[in-house]
Amino acid sequence: MQNKTVLTGVKPTGTPHIGNLVGAIKPAIELGHKVLEAGGKHLMFIADYHAINAEKDPAVLNQKLKEIACIYLAFGLDPNKSVFYKQSDIPEIPEITTILFSYTPKGFMNKAHAYKAAVDKNRAAGKPDDDLINMGLYTYPVLMAADILAYDTDIVPVGKDQVQHVEIARDIAGMINSHYGKELLKLPEYSLTKNAVLVPGIDGSKMKMSKSSNNVIPIFADKAEIKKAVFSIKTDSRPMEEPKNPDDVLVYEIYKAVAPEDKVLEMAEGLRQGKLGYGHIKNMLLDAVLDATLDAKEKYEYYMAHEKEVNEMLELGASKARPIATKVLERLKNAVFGR
Ligand code: ADP
Ligand code: TRP
Repeated sequence: MQNKTVLTGVKPTGTPHIGNLVGAIKPAIELGHKVLEAGGKHLMFIADYHAINAEKDPAVLNQKLKEIACIYLAFGLDPNKSVFYKQSDIPEIPEITTILFSYTPKGFMNKAHAYKAAVDKNRAAGKPDDDLINMGLYTYPVLMAADILAYDTDIVPVGKDQVQHVEIARDIAGMINSHYGKELLKLPEYSLTKNAVLVPGIDGSKMKMSKSSNNVIPIFADKAEIKKAVFSIKTDSRPMEEPKNPDDVLVYEIYKAVAPEDKVLEMAEGLRQGKLGYGHIKNMLLDAVLDATLDAKEKYEYYMAHEKEVNEMLELGASKARPIATKVLERLKNAVFGR
């Protein structure tokens, strides 16, 4: 990480749950701290241009943007140390995108996951392949390449689904560099978010916890709502005394993702020895969820009520990001237009 530039993009996705917290929010913030400690540069941005592909209601979009910014601030992202900004505050990004378009084979887009998934969904519903697919979605990887290449990024931490997009950014940069015979653009690498635990949903369906499956424990809801979700976690009818393999107990699976290690061991032992019933362990999980989120919830509510402060933080981020993107854009324009 020494002297490396690490960049993460997040989409504004709405009310966060435990899966988002342990699978995305916490790892991104912790990684940011590590990068900064090692003397590197950490950029983190909200991908609002990407969001308009799907969300056309400005009121909903604005609310989601505000929420995602406040979530990251609440869990400890330091906007004075990390460069934290909104994509749409950096006009160099669409300019760079336009240049990249001319060097991107159309075939790359046909093969990109986000587009292919949308086509598959249309086919499954018996609709025409390109039904409701806009150019924003089709060319998603080029905008994402601009996001990355604009800052001479070394490393992009991603989940599995985004690896292909980083590879496309790298390929586009490589083609431009080889056309001009010099390193105009830095070739980025992805780093797979390791040990990313996939938190299962509360419905016992074996599906991951996900807003779209409606099987989540929300993190910023009030206690009654969190309790309702925890107590609705699917259990079976085995009595307390029956020794259980903790890995067969869904409450334990979710507990593992949020509780400290000693507490996790305690629950495992209690289940193995038949000393903990489902009511007990649900209460333990409820406490763990509240412990993991209480402090952040207060901060979240503070930031949500102080929009101006949050906007100023994002503007500060943009003012640090733009000079970097401007330099890269200049480098590109000079080469492309022979200036
Ligand atoms: P959802 O599936 O609820 O719509 P998103 O797709 O918006 O969540 O995911 C936002 C981030 O949270 C992604 O980085 C994703 O990998 C992570 N994430 C979502 N669900 C889980 C889960 N159940 N376990 C771990 N990480 C998750
Ligand atoms: N496509 C990413 C996602 O769906 C978000 C994103 C947009 C991104 N641009 C990026 C991530 C650049 C990393 C780098 O989660």
